[in-house]
Amino acid sequence: MLILGLESSCDETAAALVTGNRLVLAHRLLGQEAAHAPFGGVVPEIAARAHVEALEPLVAAALADAGVTLADINAVAATAGPGLIGGVMVGLVTGKALAHAAGKPLVAVNHLEGHALSPRLSDPDLAFPYLLLLVSGGHCQLLLVAGVARYRRLATTIDDAAGEAFDKTAKLLGLGYPGGPAVERAALEGNARAVPLPRPLVGSAEPHFSFAGLKSAVARAAGDYAVADLAASFQAAAVDCLVDRTRRALTKAGAVTALVVAGGVAANGAVRAAMAGLAQEHGLRFVAPPLWLCTDNAAMIAWAGAERFAAGLTDPLDVPARPRWPLDPAAEAVRGAGVKA
Ligand code: KG4
Ligand code: ZN
Repeated sequence: MLILGLESSCDETAAALVTGNRLVLAHRLLGQEAAHAPFGGVVPEIAARAHVEALEPLVAAALADAGVTLADINAVAATAGPGLIGGVMVGLVTGKALAHAAGKPLVAVNHLEGHALSPRLSDPDLAFPYLLLLVSGGHCQLLLVAGVARYRRLATTIDDAAGEAFDKTAKLLGLGYPGGPAVERAALEGNARAVPLPRPLVGSAEPHFSFAGLKSAVARAAGDYAVADLAASFQAAAVDCLVDRTRRALTKAGAVTALVVAGGVAANGAVRAAMAGLAQEHGLRFVAPPLWLCTDNAAMIAWAGAERFAAGLTDPLDVPARPRWPLDPAAEAVRGAGVKA
């Protein structure tokens, strides 16, 4: 089985070819950091236009890398949401056109399912069910992954996502965009105990997350401490929150085969180390994808497409793009102080 995957939901344009037995034959990616850097964050209109320009050449390059043509693939998998709607539409419409032209089925992939199943691409032994900490720029959730298309959300953030907190902290400290890697680099030179910072919701009964108060505390402390100390102290507080909340979720998850972390923030060394420690504490296997598979890419979309295709889950060519698309539709809305609708 050979799947072409397309990703365009945020600020990375990507195309990849992945086989059913986990070979990544090609993966091409074009970031848009330079285009968005002057604005300190992703500008949706700039992103959508950049996806239009980048996607078709990336698909052609990926096919050439793999030495295959559209006739050789079994299905086209494209991110259909959630994300910035202009970008999502570019990738989904391109996927539909390629599927139609080649006479192949389309698989509309939830970007979050791409992240959620990505650890199974890098680790053939990872079996369902597993507890997943999904930490990215737009999401911070604890999910019980029971199978393909079977997700139970145990917790989410009541305000900011973890990656968003890293990005806002970076902006505040003048470390630039994208923020996560910049904070991690700065933290290496700092003292994590230098700045007293809160650990919002740590110890609370439900395993939800909150990062808005932590970010505000960094804002108040900025100026009184060295940037490296602020970065290190912020990162330590964020990691403490992630570990405590995941520990709480483990008490609610039932039996799982592994503790798994995925999404852009899973590329953070301190997060990986702390989660590995938590897994060890509970006698669980720890699984984290390689760094390139944590941040947005098309291989994870192709792989989720492969898993769905193998389960018989394909989509009609009029499937809509969805800016919002929860993995667990039954999960209740969680409202906190500064919550977005
Ligand atoms: O999964 P992803 O690439 O895109 C979304 O789906 O959101 O995640 C991007 C997020 C950004 O907030 C970025 O700052 C964060 O992941 N990130 C990191 C690191 N690398 C990326 N956060 C902390 N440490 C990192 N090394
Ligand atoms: Zn993502």
